[in-house]
Amino acid sequence: MLFRNLIALGALWMLLGQTGVAQEQKSPPPTTERPVATPVRPKASPTPTEPPITFNSVHVDGPYIALTFDDGPSATLTPKLLDLLAARHLKATFFVVGQNAADHPDILRRAVKEGHEIANHSWSHPNLGKMSDEAVRRELQKTDDAIAAAIGKRPTLLRPPYGSITARQKKWIHDEFGYRIIIWDVDPLDWKRPGPSVVTARILKETVPGSIVLSHDIHPPTIEAMPATFDQLMKKGFKSVTVTELLAMETPRPPKPTPSPAVPHATAIPSPSPVSSPPPPTATPGG
Ligand code: NI
Repeated sequence: MLFRNLIALGALWMLLGQTGVAQEQKSPPPTTERPVATPVRPKASPTPTEPPITFNSVHVDGPYIALTFDDGPSATLTPKLLDLLAARHLKATFFVVGQNAADHPDILRRAVKEGHEIANHSWSHPNLGKMSDEAVRRELQKTDDAIAAAIGKRPTLLRPPYGSITARQKKWIHDEFGYRIIIWDVDPLDWKRPGPSVVTARILKETVPGSIVLSHDIHPPTIEAMPATFDQLMKKGFKSVTVTELLAMETPRPPKPTPSPAVPHATAIPSPSPVSSPPPPTATPGG
């Protein structure tokens, strides 16, 4: 009788042991399992684990925008633009081409003194998306050095010419240079020189809070368009800040009421092109 009881007890013991093992196998390792006292709210950001590297616009609470000017500095046009900005106490960001920056360090110094931001737009304006890492590195480093030599401070933003850059490049450039990649959401196509009033009308129509407005300070009609553009933007209540200031104002985007993951993103380009952000390079030689 005692013997039987012992066997039964042993069997029960084994059974309990196996159950215990089964439970352990089902549970995740204790290092990854974290008891959660309150339900975790899903974050609005599409990449909750890593902060985003690339920006076409910024979600902000307020009428803030960033005016950006590419491809300069121009010996004649950029100082004119600086005068227009200073008269209105507006701040802008200049994505400079390194070889122009090296030629006109005095213009960069003036821009910084007046509250503007200087950022990297490559040395010679090539299509970075089609270049080797080593060639891209040289383009960025030379410009980074020219900016640092002029203003005593390294840039923290890159706008790739034509908006052309691969996802892989963004990652290593961010890791190596610390740059955030700035594209745009308002493009008046001013490099096609459609006339100052058209440039103004396009910018006014497309600009919303958080917009990053693209223009070029190497085309005379663009500079001609700016007084009316600035005045009308201000009349609408917009306040212009540098891109870095705009990024610092970022607030989470509210979740969309009807998410449709099956539909491709409207700005996605289904082509072998290296461009991962709008607009396509063929449409924007300016960039
Ligand atoms: Ni450009």
